[in-house]
Amino acid sequence: MSSASSRPKPRPEIEVLAVGCDHAGYQLKTEILDVLQEMGIPVQDLGCTGPDESVHYPVYAKKVVDAVLAKPGRRGILICGTGLGMSVVANRFPGIRAALCHDLYTAEMSRRHNDANLLVLGGRVVDPALARQIVRVWLTTPFEGGRHAERLELLERLAARETPSDT
Ligand code: RB5
Repeated sequence: MSSASSRPKPRPEIEVLAVGCDHAGYQLKTEILDVLQEMGIPVQDLGCTGPDESVHYPVYAKKVVDAVLAKPGRRGILICGTGLGMSVVANRFPGIRAALCHDLYTAEMSRRHNDANLLVLGGRVVDPALARQIVRVWLTTPFEGGRHAERLELLERLAARETPSDT
């Protein structure tokens, strides 16, 4: 009989996960698509379709942003060379909380405290085996809510150019 810790975690309740990359993130995207298949998570792959042609990361970031914002609770994964371009673009859109994660702790906390709805990875930065673990942690960690939810509300008010008090 297997112990509780060795039992596989139940598949997270994800209707469909939007995934996108540029040419520099393509190789890592293929690894990530494997993990998602292993986890039984339905995927909407929004490109790009290969590593050879140089493409513009903002174009693919916007496709995934639109898919995530299309329905409350949707989440996505973006990959470029460093992860920086994809995070900068994605975080310009109210309602998006994109977290660039290159370690397991950040991946976990981006869910617990920031309710990150987009995971961003750098295909030229993170080792594929670690990236696979990051994805698993990010997909299976819940948001804690409470005071963290209040902070996320402040974030959206700031995006709407309101000036919230600091209490
Ligand atoms: C592409 O060469 C590279 O600039 C892009 O993938 C990303 O790292 C930008 O932030």
